[in-house]
Amino acid sequence: MAEVIGLGYVIVEARDLGAWRAFACDLLGLEPAVETPGRLLLRMDSKAYRVDIRHSDTDGVAVLGWEVRGPRELEEIAARLESDGYSVKRADEDAARARQVSGLVEFDDPTGQRLELFWGLTESKERFVSPTGARFVTGAGGMGHVFQFTADGAAQGRLYQELLGFRLSDFIDFGPGLSGTFLHANERHHSFAFASFPGLSGVGHLMFEVDELDLVGRAWDKVQDGAAPVAATFGKHTNDEMLSFYVKTPSGFQVEYGYGGKLVDDTNWAPVRYSATSYWGHRRTDPDEPDV
Ligand SMILES: [Fe+2]
Repeated sequence: MAEVIGLGYVIVEARDLGAWRAFACDLLGLEPAVETPGRLLLRMDSKAYRVDIRHSDTDGVAVLGWEVRGPRELEEIAARLESDGYSVKRADEDAARARQVSGLVEFDDPTGQRLELFWGLTESKERFVSPTGARFVTGAGGMGHVFQFTADGAAQGRLYQELLGFRLSDFIDFGPGLSGTFLHANERHHSFAFASFPGLSGVGHLMFEVDELDLVGRAWDKVQDGAAPVAATFGKHTNDEMLSFYVKTPSGFQVEYGYGGKLVDDTNWAPVRYSATSYWGHRRTDPDEPDV
């Protein structure tokens, strides 16, 4: 069965590109590849870009770009989505070229979040050079993970597991009657996770992983000095064992920045249930926010 193999790119709409440049480049260490008054394309590895920030009068994650292996897989998944009732738009060559991919389809998830499936994201001939010396964990694991709130967990689970081919990693119970579902599409512990929480919908956070604890520590120092508002303090997650902190982006959603995420081996993986999100730390600065 054709399936998604990882998170490939993210498109963000933002009111304040200048704030995003400082946040993404000076704090996280992403490299500005293209900068115009209306656009900020950010690299984190050999790919032409991974984060595409567009100036807008709204703020938020406009598109999640999920990678598949090739054109046959793209069409197989598109047909599967359509037979399940999703309205799928097959992008023309111009639209694919604008994304710097070889093939592209678009549809909306049950929350209304725009998703794209693509294959063949362009490699840059230029070496990736991080402003902070960061090396990001990408490759076979994709560019990171997404955590999303949804009112309809069953529909979201069906989309990602039955139609897009994600596999269950585990669950975390984070409150009375509340649990998060963590799914993997590759060796990364999760590329997508979701939870239902009263009043919340949409992307809660994006995760970027670096290959050295000191990079996270130095970024945490910058956050202490005011580089970005803290959403959750430095801590260690139970399920993926990530050492990370959470900050608010200039667009309101959060970024988790961390090191040391556990890898999944499907040949011996057995999903479990955790009773807490973190072993220590990850103290939420907003007491009304869910601890996940
Ligand atoms: Fe996360």
